[in-house]
Parts: sequence; structure tokens; C-alpha cells
Amino acid sequence: MGIFVNEAQGRFHLQSKRMSYVIQIADGLPLHVYWGKKLRSESNLQGLMIGMPEGAGLDRLPQEYPQYGSGDFRNPAYQVQLADGTRITELRYITYRLLPGKPALEGLPAVYAETDDEAQTLELELSDAYSGLKAVLRYTVYEELDAVVRSTVLVNEGGRVLQLKRAFSASVDFQSGDYELIYLSGAWAREGVINRRPLRQGGTKIDSKRGVSSHQLNPFAALVRPDATETSGEVFGFSLVYSGGFEAEAELDAFGSTRFGIGLNSFDFSWQLNPGDAFQTPEAVMVFSSEGLGEMSRTYHRLYRTRLCRGKYRDAERPILVNNWEATYFNFDTEKLMAIANEASRLGIELFVLDDGWFGKRDSDNCSLGDWVEDRRKLPGGLADLAGRIKELGLKFGLWVEPEMVSPDSDLYREHPDWCLHVPGRRRTEARWQLVLDLTRKEVREYIVSTLSGIFSTVPVSYVKWDMNRNLTEIGSAELPPERQGETAHRYVLGLYEMLDRLTASFPDILFESCSSGGGRFDPGMLYYMPQTWTSDNTDAVERLKIQYGTSLVYPVSAIGAHVSAVPNHQVGRMTPLEFRGDVAMSGNFGYELDLTRFTDEEREAVKRQVNEYKQVRRLVQQGELYRLKSPFEGNETAWMFVSADRREAVVYYFRVMAEPNPARSILRLAGLEPGLDYVVQGKDGLETCLGGDRLMQAGLPLEFKQSDYESGFFKLKAAD
Ligand code: DGJ
Repeated sequence: MGIFVNEAQGRFHLQSKRMSYVIQIADGLPLHVYWGKKLRSESNLQGLMIGMPEGAGLDRLPQEYPQYGSGDFRNPAYQVQLADGTRITELRYITYRLLPGKPALEGLPAVYAETDDEAQTLELELSDAYSGLKAVLRYTVYEELDAVVRSTVLVNEGGRVLQLKRAFSASVDFQSGDYELIYLSGAWAREGVINRRPLRQGGTKIDSKRGVSSHQLNPFAALVRPDATETSGEVFGFSLVYSGGFEAEAELDAFGSTRFGIGLNSFDFSWQLNPGDAFQTPEAVMVFSSEGLGEMSRTYHRLYRTRLCRGKYRDAERPILVNNWEATYFNFDTEKLMAIANEASRLGIELFVLDDGWFGKRDSDNCSLGDWVEDRRKLPGGLADLAGRIKELGLKFGLWVEPEMVSPDSDLYREHPDWCLHVPGRRRTEARWQLVLDLTRKEVREYIVSTLSGIFSTVPVSYVKWDMNRNLTEIGSAELPPERQGETAHRYVLGLYEMLDRLTASFPDILFESCSSGGGRFDPGMLYYMPQTWTSDNTDAVERLKIQYGTSLVYPVSAIGAHVSAVPNHQVGRMTPLEFRGDVAMSGNFGYELDLTRFTDEEREAVKRQVNEYKQVRRLVQQGELYRLKSPFEGNETAWMFVSADRREAVVYYFRVMAEPNPARSILRLAGLEPGLDYVVQGKDGLETCLGGDRLMQAGLPLEFKQSDYESGFFKLKAAD
């Protein structure tokens, strides 16, 4: 396993535990000749470009980083404008390098290797002699974790200015057109919708022009064989480690080949490369599975949970929290918060989170962003006093911030009206009565970092919810010269990453959670800095089945924030039982978001049981292997299970949304167990039976539901000694 180089034949074979990726240099071009299930040996690799016509032009060649303008009419991976205005470049292979481990990416989030032997990196150097443009295609293969990670560095080694107009992270030419495209779409409060559509000649594109990865389309897509299912068939996943605008396109050409490219959105993008400058693209994480979507997801989960997320919370069990947002919105004072916190501590909850409304004069969402000074009308003793009192109850204290924003009605805006993204002479489009701070500017970043650092070092904050509640408009920066205005959106993201780097390094004991009106920026870039994300502002348990199921296609459950909220639900008005809400939220990173002081005695007892239950299963849920058993997108029932790495323990959650008259028998076949082991299976009622792993996976378990809507249950499994 690793990277095998056949210099004589110009071939590179990247091999991991279950996958091979093969590149062939021909006529100075790196050609893509294979990606799929692991190929055994070097002798297998001859003649992989089967059936390619003799002397085929660029339009027929499967390439690794294609150009436009010299006979390939498909989507290029890059485009560069020379000082003379022309846009023709021809990158030709120069040399290669092998590096142990995985180099970090300058200024960008990236998956990492902890030791040099868990990954190996290949760099292919290409150059366009005429312009001096150099490209370094970087491939890291993770042997055990089974992924190939690609990014590109574009360097100006010429003597004149170059303008990048497009710079993808990766492009792959599949020598077949027999694929369907799977991707995640949505909207505010409707994230994680799984879409699947066949490719037809022409392009199928997903993108975000919003300056954030977006609720609407997530920076992830998979090409799958038409027969691929959750448990079988070939799947090729692409996930971009980036939090800004992106594009990904699958293009089926006239010859039945499919080109898939992914990277920064080239719409409204340009980047000036002065002589000597280099541009590093974000990276694309590519995962192959021959066992369907489930296996692809588990590979992403393992990699993202252990080699993307960082810090002391990466491997730690996450605290059960209560958040006051849906309990009080802006209408709270110390007394109200303390009442909730008191109740939380009695229930066994571990973290109290103070959400929006604690600063400036923020009684609604129309003011004060930027003025990060506690509102003494609501908190007469200030934040430190409140946090101290909460700590005395045995709870950790968490705080909401939305640092990237400024309200026009704020002291910050009155003092620095040019600190927001804007275009001189144009109106400033407000969304939720707020503008976006220009993070391309150093003094703006300094203000944010020093203000937050002041709070985090004087208030005992253990958790921070970092929110971002609008998309970017009038994307221009007062600081940048005209020829660099097209860099603003990407520089914004780089500025954000720089701040996050500094803050997370300075406050390593804080657990950071990212949020963008829920899942508007649920992406691997944010997970590098913050190991968990608020999945959706939609807390309705029925809606959450789909949202959490869809999100889990790529993202580990430890990242998926899930809260029990009040009924009728605030987003959809639905009444669901506390038990059902609890089982859905316990299938994620668990918490409560409602007024705990309003519980009846019976509810209080039920919540105590839930909290206790979650403490017992949370290591499995947060760090186990996820097996999706029944999809909410396909029927009335949903089920999933979490299995320990050694397969000796598991927990299964199952749900039925609507009652059915005279229902058919429902059988749940489990997955991921050891067929030869016997397991003690305990239902929610506490009753235990001992059953074989083979029986549980092949014959399954009958699910029993009471005759009412919104039924749920769980099984806990432990290998019998
Ligand atoms: C949007 C978030 O998603 C909510 O959870 C809450 O924090 C509000 N913002 C506060 O304004």
C-alpha cells in the first residue's frame, strides 16, 4: 500500500486498503486511467486506457488537470489570463516528488496525518513554458483511512502578471458515463435533502455563489453506479474542505466519458498572481466505496472525526447542553437564565448555553451586532457573574456570538461604516438587518479577535456557538485595488480561517460549535476549527429524521448538533411525544432547547432518564460506526445504529412517523455486527434476549410500535462473554 511509481512507464499507482487510483503520463500530460476498487499489482496496470483511438485529441483524453483552448471543449480545471490578455496555457509534466505524510495547506483547513506512515503524498509538477505558469498537483493517499485528498498549487514563475480565473482543486475523467449524481440540497430549516439523478449528455452542476458553503447546496457530491444502494455498488465521493462559494460539475460528454470537477466557484472569481506568487486551492477529499453509500459515509466519518477535527474535544465525549434560544429568544434576565440552569443541573445536564441577546441593546435581531458588551439591563452582574453562578451549579458555561457581522444600528458601524463588505456608490443590502464585516481587512480581524479574546479570558467560557446569519452581498472591499476586487470572497474566507486559527489556538479548552442559521455552513472547512455544528434551526423531530440522515451522508454524528425542543414545535407547529423527540436528538450530539422550568413532574422524570441514557451511549453514538438501516426519504420508518470499533457494542434507534391501520409486520435487519458473536439485546423496556450477530443481521428483529403516531424505540447490544 502507498504510492508506487513506475518511472520507465511514467505511471503512478496510489493504493490504499481498498482503493487504487492510477495516473499515467503520456505525451507530457498526466492522464487519469483508473479509480476504483484496489488493483493488486503493477502487471495489472498495463493498457488501462482501453479502446482509446490512436492519436486521440485532447477532447478524448482522460486528464488529471485539463486546460481549455487547445482542443478539449469540456470544462477545464483551471484558466489563467496572461498579461497580453490571452487565455491559452498548456501545462506539461516536468517531474514528481514523493513526500511522507501530508503537508499542511498554507492558510486553509485540511485533513492531516498524525504520523508520516499513515499517509503519503505525491506531487506532480507541470509547467507552461511560455507563460511561466507552474502547477503542482498534490495527491495524498491515506492507507488505512482509505481516501485520496487532492489540491493544486498554481505558481507564477514567469516575469509578468497572471490572472487566475478558475482554479479547481481536483478534476477526474471517468472513462464511463454510467453514473448518477447524488448531492445534498436544502434551504433554511430544510437542510440535508438527498438528491439523486442520472447523468445525461451535458453538465449537471451544483454550486454556491453566496460566499458561504450554503444551506442550498452542500460542497459534496458523489457519482454512483445506477445499481448502487446504501449497502452495495460503486460510489465515488467528493467533499470540498472549504466554507465559501464552491462549484462541482459532472459533465457527460459525447463519447460517454464523465468529467467531474470541484473547487472554488469560478463565477465572480479572479486572483492576481504577481511574478513569484503562489495560489493554494482548498482540498477535495475523494472516497471510493464498492459497498454503497453507507461505506462511503463511514470512511468520511472516520477521516473527518479523527483527521480533520482537532483539539481536546476531538476524541472527548461532548457535553449534554441546554440552550436558551427557543426557551426565551431575546426575552430573558439573570433570574430566568438561572432558573433554567438550576433545573438543568438537577436533570444532569452538563452545559448551559446563553444564546443571542446578551449584548448591546439587543431586544430583537435588528441591532447591536458588533457591540460585544454585556447588556446590564438583562445581566446586572454581567457575564462573568452569570457564568460564575452557573459554574457553581456544576454546569459549564457557553456563549453565543456572531462575530462576522455588524448591525447598522450599532456603535461599531457608526464608528467604522467602511468596515463592512460594500461597493462604493451602491446600496448595502441588509439581511436580518445586518451587514457582513470585511474580513479581508486586518484591522477588522484584529478588532474581532481582540474583543472576543477579552471576553473569553475574563468570563469562564467553556463553549462558544459561532453563528453567521446571512450570505455575502456587494462583495467588494474598500482595501483592495480594482484588479483584486474579484479576490474578495475568497479573501473573506481566508480571513475567517485566520481568525479561527488564532482563537482556537489561544483558547484550546473551549469547545467551539459553528452555526450559520443552522446548517448554512455545515462543511469540512468549519469542522477543522470547530468539531461540531448546529445542524438546523428546524428542531421538529420528524423533520430532523431527514435532516440528520441526509447530513450523515458525509459528516460524522459527533458533529451533528441535535436538541429536544418544545411542542408545539416552533418551526412547524407539530406535537410529538417527548420520547420521540429524545430518541431523535440522542441520535446526534445531544441537548435541550426549551424552557426546562415548564416540565411536568412526569416530563422531568423522563428527561432525567434520557440524560442518563445518553451518558451511557454517547461514546458509541459520537464515535461509533454509523449504519443507516431505514431511510426517512423512502418510507414511514427510519432506523440507524451505532457500532463500536471492536463490534462488541451497539445501539439501535428506530422510528415510525405515522400510525398505520392494520400494519404490516416490520422487521429491522441490523448491520455492522460480528456474525459469529452472540449479543445480549436490551429493548427500551429493559427486557433482555441473547441473539447471534448472524441472526440479527440476516433475519433481523421485529419492531413493535404502539398504535399511535410518532413512535420510537431503541435496542442496546452487548457481546455476551
Ligand atoms: C440562528 C441560529 O441558528 C439559532 O440557533 C440562534 O442562535 C439564532 N441564530 C440567534 O439569533
